[in-house]
Order: sequence, then C-alpha cells, then structure tokens
Amino acid sequence: MVGLMRLSPSFICFMCVHAVVMVDAHLQLSSGLMSRSDFPTGFVFGAGSSAYQIEGAAAEDGRKPSIWDTFTHAGKMIDMSTGDIASDQYHHYKEDVKLMHETGLEAYRFSISWNRLIPDGHGAVNPKGLNYYNNLINELVDYGIEPHVTLSHLDIPRSLQDEYDGYLSPKFIEDFTAYADTCFKEFGDRVKHWITFNEPNIQTITGNDLGNGPPNRCSYPFGVNCSTGNSTTEPYIGAHMILLSHASAVQLYRENYQEIQKGQIGITILALWFEPVCDSPDDIAAKQRMLDFHLGWFLDPLVYGDYPATMRNIVGSRLPFFTENDSKQLKSSYDFIGLNHYSSLPVEDQPITFNKYGSDYIRDISVKGLSSKSLHQMKSTMPVDSRSLQRLLEYVNLKYKNPAVVIHENGLRGHGDNCNAQALNDTERVEYLQSYIESLLLSIRNGSDVRGYFVWSFMDCFELIDGYRSHYGLYAVDFNDARRKRYPRMSAKWFSSFLAKEKNSAKISSH
Ligand SMILES: *[C@@H]1O[C@H](CO)[C@@H](O)[C@H](O)[C@H]1NC(C)=O
Ligand SMILES: *[C@@H]1O[C@H](CO)[C@@H](O)[C@H](O)[C@H]1NC(C)=O
Ligand SMILES: *[C@@H]1O[C@H](CO)[C@@H](O)[C@H](O)[C@H]1NC(C)=O
Ligand SMILES: *[C@@H]1O[C@H](CO)[C@@H](O)[C@H](O)[C@H]1NC(C)=O
Ligand SMILES: *[C@@H]1O[C@H](CO)[C@@H](O)[C@H](O)[C@H]1NC(C)=O
Repeated sequence: MVGLMRLSPSFICFMCVHAVVMVDAHLQLSSGLMSRSDFPTGFVFGAGSSAYQIEGAAAEDGRKPSIWDTFTHAGKMIDMSTGDIASDQYHHYKEDVKLMHETGLEAYRFSISWNRLIPDGHGAVNPKGLNYYNNLINELVDYGIEPHVTLSHLDIPRSLQDEYDGYLSPKFIEDFTAYADTCFKEFGDRVKHWITFNEPNIQTITGNDLGNGPPNRCSYPFGVNCSTGNSTTEPYIGAHMILLSHASAVQLYRENYQEIQKGQIGITILALWFEPVCDSPDDIAAKQRMLDFHLGWFLDPLVYGDYPATMRNIVGSRLPFFTENDSKQLKSSYDFIGLNHYSSLPVEDQPITFNKYGSDYIRDISVKGLSSKSLHQMKSTMPVDSRSLQRLLEYVNLKYKNPAVVIHENGLRGHGDNCNAQALNDTERVEYLQSYIESLLLSIRNGSDVRGYFVWSFMDCFELIDGYRSHYGLYAVDFNDARRKRYPRMSAKWFSSFLAKEKNSAKISSH
C-alpha cells in the first residue's frame, strides 16, 4: 500500500507544488521589520463590515427586506440564523466608531442597505434610513475616519427580486443607477470612496448557479433545493447586468458628481489565487482558465471591454454580448479595483462534465480541486501562505495594466465559541494579518499600485457562509448578550499598535 501511494500521481504532484513554492522563498520579508510608516503617502488602513451582516434592526424604522432576509427567514442557513439583530450596529454605531478611533483605524468600509434607504428598491427615500447613514458618516468624519462605502454588498431589495428577478433583468440597471444617484447626492459631500458592488463574481455563483445563497435560484443537476432558476445561463446573465449597472453608476458619478465631490469609484471582486497542482502544461492551462473565469469575468470587461476569449470559447452562446456602447462605457469605468483576498486554492486539469452536486460554472472551468464545497467555503481556513497575495497582485499588475488596487477584505476565520479566552487570544489571526500585510508591502515595492488595506472584519458579525458559527472580527461580539457587548481580541491590540505609526510598532506582538 505504502509503495503504491508513493508512486501515485497525486503524491508526486503534491511534491510539485512544494517545489514551486520553494523557488519563491527569497521573496519573504523577515517578520517583524515592517511598520506603518513603510507604506506610501496616502495609503490607508482600515477594517470592514456590510449592512446585513452588522446592522440588525431588520424590521425597524421603515426598512423592508432584502433577498438575504428572505433567505435566512426560510431557514436556509446551516445554523438557521438570521441577521435580524446581528451585531446591532444600528443601535451601537456611536460606540463602534469610538472603538474604531481607539483602535486607530484610518478608514471604515461599510455598506448601505439599499432596502433601508429606498425600501421598495425604487421610489421614495426612507427618511429614517437616510438619517441613520448621515449619522454614521458624520460620526466617522468627526473622528477623522474615512468612510469607504459599498452600494450593494450582496444584498438587493426583495421587492426588485419579486418584481423582475433582480439583476437578471435590464430594469435593474436603471434602478441601481437611481439608487446610486441618491447616495452620491446625499452622502457624496463626505464620502470620497465608493464601491458599486461587492463580489459579484461569487454572488452570481452562489445565488444563481449553486443556489446555496440568495436569491436561491438554480437548476438540476447543477444545484438542488431551488424551486426556480437556470444554472447554465443565469450566472452569466446576472454578471452581465451587474457589470452594466456598475458602468452606468460610474458614468453618472463622473458626469454629475466627481468634479465637485472629488471622490473615487470602483468595484470589488473576490480574488482568490490558484496554484496548479503540477507544473504540467495541462494544470497550468487549468490555472489560467480558473483565473479567467474568476477574475477575468469582471476585470477583462472593465479593462478591455469584453469577456476573456477563454470564456467565449467555453461558454459559447450562453455568454451575453456587449454592444459597442456597452464596451465603451465599461472600459476604464473604475478609479480603483477592490480585491477581497483570503487564500489560494490548488487546481488541476480535469476533463469532467459535472457531478451531481457540482456547479455549471465548475463544469465550464473543468478544474479539479474546486468543488461546490470549496467555492462555498472559500473564506475558510486554507493553508496560510501570504505569497498568494504577492502572486495575485503581480498578475493583476501585468495582465490588467497595473490598476490602482485596494485590498478590501483579508482576514482569518475562527470557529466555535467566539468569546472565550482562546477566541480572544487570537495569535493565529495576528500572524496571518502580519504576514499578509508584509506581502502587500513587498508587492508595493515591486511596483503594484496598492492604495489601501482593510481587515475583514472590524467586529464579529453574521457571516454569509455559516451565520454565527465562524468569526473574523478584531473585536468579538457576545451574541448571547442582549446588548451585544464587544470585546477586543489580541488582533485588535496588534493592529492598533501597528497603526500607531511608531517605527517597528508591528514588533509588538502577542508573545
Ligand atoms: C436540501 O435541503 C434539505 C432540507 O432542507 C437538506 O437536508 C439537504 O442537505 C439539502 N441538500 C443540499 C445538497 O444542499
Ligand atoms: C436553461 O436555459 C437554456 C437556454 O435558454 C435552455 O436550453 C435550458 O433548457 C434551460 N434549462 C432549464 C432547467 O430551464
Ligand atoms: C450609443 O451611445 C451614443 C452616445 O452616448 C448614443 O447616441 C447612441 O444612441 C447609443 N447607441 C445605442 C445603440 O445605444
Ligand atoms: C516582482 O516583479 C517581478 C517582475 O514582474 C517578478 O518576477 C517577481 O516575482 C515579483 N516579486 C514579487 C514579490 O511580487
Ligand atoms: C495567548 O496564546 C499564546 C500562545 O498561542 C500564549 O503564549 C500567550 O500566553 C497567550 N496569552 C494570553 C493573554 O493568554
């Protein structure tokens, strides 16, 4: 048995990956020598959240449901949880902004709940929603913390889903643009950093292919447990409409607001890195296919005005076309590209069709090592190797004309009880963050135009993959306490000392 195993191709391939990693070992910075002041002028450090995940107050002050409320209330989460109360930031925002100030955050990334601001998705603005976001923004600005605001963080008003299937319809473009217009008009005097969409490249896969996220659409055999949908076409149609909605909002911002408000606007995608299991031509081609479907799906239209040729060849007529006007509007419709990076995944060529619980998207890519499970749990703890970030940034630099980049999410998942002594003494998270921030510095020194870095997340919240079973926060939140008391983790103290701008401040570690 042992002999057979030693000769098995997968074992040999495992050695390949190891060898590939070793070659780059010299790129590592020796730990503990980095400080805040090593980063370029204007670089910003912050932490993030999103509306449904942190606000709570789901049925208060005129807020109507989003597709996430529908999903969680149908008992679709693995822990049957909802974001009804979540971290209750709606009622604790003053206390939270004070905590951000004490931590030394330079920026806070949060999202506006479209259905809190415009409860029906279009039409009347909810004055209490408007008031809440004005208060939050004012509080941040008073403390000198930059608000970086996402317009749609995977949550769209339920009414638009009911009315016309949300982002599957071209009507979505007009409604999103009108919503964005309201936000620019009401908040743009103080908000200088806008993100149109967060992770549309995974929203369409979970929502319209696997069906394991809202709006819970899929078709057999690619997804199960959906009452409606079409996994083979909808992810591509949805992504297309989201791209056009993004371009439309950016055009509006540039024409009517940017000159006066002097802000910046971009879009944020999930950007994992992929390593071929073997150094073979087939596996290297699989890696490129993966990168084209995962990043190129959005970055190619934004930079070059069309989808990658790989996607055109494989997806064929299921992939929508851009008109000449669409392409023109899309090209350069960003001042920065946001990247959410957590880890890298191994990929291996596989001439498969699909398996019973697989995804149509996975079939299109045909790489092994990527399962519906790994797609769904992309943010879970993978072997930590922060050089994945260096490779990602170098790839984006070379392939996409060195765009301005902001790392909008990076963080380490913790499991189980989130408030006990062990969960608060999160030394692994400290090591993870330090290592990724060091990698980031090396990439900047190597020519990548990175403008900011945000830890996911500022505090524990309702996690979209598994509710309250995992946590990423610099601060723990006691979800069993009616007041949702916050507790600083070791990582909050570490980040705070790093941000204190003293030379070698990052040396102060948990040990
Ligand atoms: C489908 O739903 C049932 C009942 O909610 C659940 O037990 C099952 O695990 C689901 N199947 C998949 C593949 O998600
Ligand atoms: C999905 O759409 C395609 C193209 O319109 C069609 O051929 C296919 O039958 C549809 N599948 C389902 C499950 O409706
Ligand atoms: C393309 O854009 C131009 C200028 O914005 C506009 O006049 C024209 O009607 C558009 N064409 C189509 C087919 O949408
Ligand atoms: C720096 O860029 C060069 C040239 O693109 C590349 O070979 C090298 O691997 C990069 N190093 C890092 C740390 O990204
Ligand atoms: C935190 O954990 C580390 C080991 O991971 C240990 O050395 C240290 O003493 C712990 N600190 C506290 C305050 O418990």
